[in-house]
Amino acid sequence: MCNSTLLKPIKIGNKVVPNRFAVNAMEGTDADEHGNPSELTYKRYEKFFEGGSAFIDLEAITCQTECVSSNNQLCIMKENEEALTKFVKHLKAINSDNVFVFQLTHAGELGNPHFSKALRVTKEPLPGYEHAEFIDEEKVEEIMQQLVEGAVIAHNAGADGIDLKLCAGYLGSQILRPFNKHEWKYGGSWENRKQFAIDLVERIKAAVNDPDFIIGSKISLYEGFPGGQGTMGPDSAVMDLTESIDLIKTLEEHGASYILTTCGAPMHTLNLVKPSKEDPYIAYLGQYFQKVCRDNMKPETVVIGGGYSIFANGKQPNFHAVLPEKNSLLFWGDKMIQDGVTDMIALGRQSFRDAAIPKKLAEGKEDEIKWCSGCDQCSLLLITPNYTGCVTEPYYAQKIPSALEFLGIK
Ligand SMILES: Cc1cc2nc3c(=O)[nH]c(=O)nc-3n(C[C@H](O)[C@H](O)[C@H](O)COP(=O)(O)O)c2cc1C
Repeated sequence: MCNSTLLKPIKIGNKVVPNRFAVNAMEGTDADEHGNPSELTYKRYEKFFEGGSAFIDLEAITCQTECVSSNNQLCIMKENEEALTKFVKHLKAINSDNVFVFQLTHAGELGNPHFSKALRVTKEPLPGYEHAEFIDEEKVEEIMQQLVEGAVIAHNAGADGIDLKLCAGYLGSQILRPFNKHEWKYGGSWENRKQFAIDLVERIKAAVNDPDFIIGSKISLYEGFPGGQGTMGPDSAVMDLTESIDLIKTLEEHGASYILTTCGAPMHTLNLVKPSKEDPYIAYLGQYFQKVCRDNMKPETVVIGGGYSIFANGKQPNFHAVLPEKNSLLFWGDKMIQDGVTDMIALGRQSFRDAAIPKKLAEGKEDEIKWCSGCDQCSLLLITPNYTGCVTEPYYAQKIPSALEFLGIK
């Protein structure tokens, strides 16, 4: 039996869960034509639940279909409630010793105009998003109402809580970041921008009205481009975490039980979001953001640190000045918890490859863990009209040639 800190219990909200592993939100773009979980969605999540992780973040799920960033995204509207209830019941019957949250998402300017609309809140478009339709306060109010209804449906469906997506360049980020500079209800001053997060949390709390329902948020502490979250101002890329720190403290004050950390935005600064084989050491930067959260929040607010997959078994090439045995996912996860940097570790691509790390560790079968190679073919499938998953599974591997053709790559 492994005595890693990773196998120690922890309390999230009012629930104690058995270990420090989290499955990060990973879109599979495999919902059925109604936005309900399909057979493929069931298969992916069954593996997550069988694997024994203490926290499972249901991928980006949309509360409307007017503005979405990917095809076949899961939906959370009234008409999806029955299917989602069945889904949660099925998964919780496999394993209920976890916190299962739904990641409520709105794409905003990232809405794909080929099959939906792109909507922006900034008068001046972010370069590259000139095509997005500028929306007014009334429309933002409508979107907030949809997100609140999404939270109520998540609660009715049996989810333990929600993850408010304030990261990755989606609508939450678009509102919070300094680039949202013109004065409006949720724009201009930081006080205005952060009010969006406050109103959202307060309205969700009032609508759900259940003290056991967990509210938390995945946050990009630093988006890494001019005017992004965690920068000095609308036209500066210089890192300044003042607003990000105030955001996590504000969310905590208003009842957030956890913060899931990330950085970057996939459409703008992809390598920050997911450290790659070419520049794996970006994962160390992620540890810094986790420490910033841990240092600035109450001990009971759980920090879930992301970006650990690339460490794998420690043998990933392009890491320098470090021994493989002191550079593995299990080494860093254990050390970061012991050092007070994070409380849990969230695994994205590794969860696609093998989500059973907690189970295998607990059973003394560490040598049976299958490690993510960092090939990033799951991301390739995500950005093409395909279902996505780990290409070590033949079902997903066979889709690679058509994905490359779609992108015009030979
Ligand atoms: C295929 C794929 C799908 C993803 N889907 C989501 C998503 O739905 N929501 C989200 O917040 N992040 C999403 N991400 C980002 C991951 O949750 C995670 O932050 C990132 O992959 C870094 O973690 P890792 O190094 O453990 O993979 C996705 C990443 C990939 C590769």
